[in-house]
Amino acid sequence: MSLLKKTLLILLLIVVAIQFYRPNKNVQKEVTPDDFLIAQKAPSYVKDLFKNSCYNCHSDYTEYYWYDNIVPAAWIVDGHIKEAKSKLNFSEWATKDSRDKAGIISEIAINIMENKMPLPSYTMIHSNAKLSEYEKKQILEWLYTIE
Ligand code: HEC
Repeated sequence: MSLLKKTLLILLLIVVAIQFYRPNKNVQKEVTPDDFLIAQKAPSYVKDLFKNSCYNCHSDYTEYYWYDNIVPAAWIVDGHIKEAKSKLNFSEWATKDSRDKAGIISEIAINIMENKMPLPSYTMIHSNAKLSEYEKKQILEWLYTIE
């Protein structure tokens, strides 16, 4: 066997072996009334936008794509989810006090307006999560109705 073939074979074995080191999935059993979209009675078009563009990182329920499960991508995805949830977890919304909520809502609006969220590195691969100008407007207008 040539050196190239041996090297490729070893690399392949490594890629297969690291598949056993997958992070646990971020999937809870059920959505609780503490959830942002439920607690704030979001209309269904707003629910869809948040679920599609934010919830895979900022909630207890990630919908994984097949390629999100392949290591090392799975590690990157897991890292994003942990960091995102430590800052903002939409599944625990109702447990925040109202002053915090007001602050978070304005942060959400700013992040969307400035195209910082959803993370550009995420929308590069998950293009359906990218918000159009119209969708951003829909979200922002609804956010302003929250008391
Ligand atoms: C790919 C995962 C991912 C997606 C999708 C995503 N975020 Fe984030 N978000 C993060 C990470 C990681 C951070 C923390 C690091 C940072 O601020 O860049 C963050 C930070 C934030 C913050 C700042 C919180 C704070 O206290 O600093 C807000 C607000 C936010 N995201 C809102 C959203 C909204 C709204 C959406 C959907 C439109 C969204 N994010 C989509 C990963 C994500």
